[in-house]
Amino acid sequence: MARDHGFHPVRIKRIVQETADARTYVLDAPFPYRAGQFLTLQACGTLRSYSMSSSPDTDDELMTTVKRVPGGLVSNWMHDHLAAGDRLSVTLPAGVFCLRDTAAPLVALCGGSGVTPILSLVKSALATTGRRVRVLSANRDADAVIFRAALDELAARHPDRFEIRHHLDTANGFVTADQVRDFAGGDRDADFYLCGPEPFMDLTERALLDHGVDAERILVERFEHSSDTPAGDEKEGTVTIVLDGARRTVPQHVGETLLESARRAGLTPPFSCESGNCATCIAQITKGEAKMRVNNALEDDEIADGWILTCQGEPVTPEVTVVYE
Ligand SMILES: Cc1cc2nc3c(=O)[nH]c(=O)nc-3n(C[C@H](O)[C@H](O)[C@H](O)COP(=O)(O)OP(=O)(O)OC[C@H]3O[C@@H](n4cnc5c(N)ncnc54)[C@H](O)[C@@H]3O)c2cc1C
Ligand code: FES
Repeated sequence: MARDHGFHPVRIKRIVQETADARTYVLDAPFPYRAGQFLTLQACGTLRSYSMSSSPDTDDELMTTVKRVPGGLVSNWMHDHLAAGDRLSVTLPAGVFCLRDTAAPLVALCGGSGVTPILSLVKSALATTGRRVRVLSANRDADAVIFRAALDELAARHPDRFEIRHHLDTANGFVTADQVRDFAGGDRDADFYLCGPEPFMDLTERALLDHGVDAERILVERFEHSSDTPAGDEKEGTVTIVLDGARRTVPQHVGETLLESARRAGLTPPFSCESGNCATCIAQITKGEAKMRVNNALEDDEIADGWILTCQGEPVTPEVTVVYE
C-alpha cells in the first residue's frame, strides 16, 4: 500500500507578511515532515506545491512561504483571498530535497522564493548536526530579500559555522559563474543545494560542475515546470494499463510516459501537476520496469514496492503492466 497521498483540510492559523510580495502561511497541520519538503495544495481548480520554511527541528508550527509570481494564478489568489481561519486542502509533506546523513559541509545557493526550503534545511542542519553551513542568497534588491533577519540572526548565533552572503542584482548584476565558483571555493566535497529561478539554477549547476563538484553532490529543487518532450514513434513492446476494471494494451512509443500511454489507450487516469510532485497519478507496476524522469513525491520503499508516478514513468522493459488503485 502506498502511503497517504490524498488531500487533507488544514486551517490557516495566521499569515505573516515577509516582503511586499511574499507571505508565510502558518498552518494548523500536525504533519510529520523533513526539512526541505513541500506540501501540494488544491486551489483555483488546480494544484501547486509550496515548500516549508519552518523546520521540524526548531519550529513548533508548520509554515510555508509563497511569493507572488507576476500573472500567476495560485500565488496571487493566495495573497489576495486567503485570511487567517480559512481552510486549504493539502497533501501530506513530500519531497527528497532533504538533509543527507553526512558530516560534509552544506552549501546552498538560492534565489528569490528559493530561500524557502533552504531556510528550513539550514535551521535543521544547525540544530541537529555539527556541519558547516554556507548560503548565497540572491535577490533583485534589498526589499525583495525574504528571511533576511532570520538568516542574519542564525549567522550571529553560529558565527563559527554559518555564513550568509547576500547578493543584490541591483548592486552587483545577476550572479555570475565566477561568483558561484568563488563562493564554492575549496568546499568541493560539500553537499550543494540549489533552488531559485530556472536561469539561476542552470547557471549555478553548470558553474559547480565546471568547478569540479561531483554531480552526486548537487541537489536541486525546481519550482518551475520543465517543458514536456513530445513522444516519438512506436517502438517494440507494449504497455498494459488496468484502471477501474478496464484492461487495455497499447504498443510502446519512444519517450511516452505511462500516463500518456493510458490516455492513448482511451482511459482517463487521475493526474494533476504532471511534474512529479503531487502523486495524484500514482499506480503500481505489476510486470516489467519503468523509470521516472522526476520524482519529488515517492519514497524509496514505495518505489521498491513497485509504485510509480505515471506522469513521469517511461518503460524500460518490453512489457510493462501498470495498475491504478
Ligand atoms: C516542489 C516545489 C516547491 C515549491 N515551493 C515554493 C515555495 O516555497 N514558495 C513559492 O513561492 N513557490 C514555490 N513553488 C512554486 C509554486 O508551486 C508555483 O509554481 C508558483 O507559486 C507559481 O504558481 P502560480 O499559479 O501563481 O503561477 P502560474 O499561473 O502557474 O504561472 C504563471 C507564469 O509564471 C511562470 N512561473 C511559474 N512558476 C514560477 C516561479 N516559481 N517563478 C517564476 N515564474 C514562474 C509560469 O511558467 C507561467 O508562465 C514550488 C514549486 C515546486 C514544484
Ligand atoms: S500528476 Fe502529479 S506527480 Fe504525476
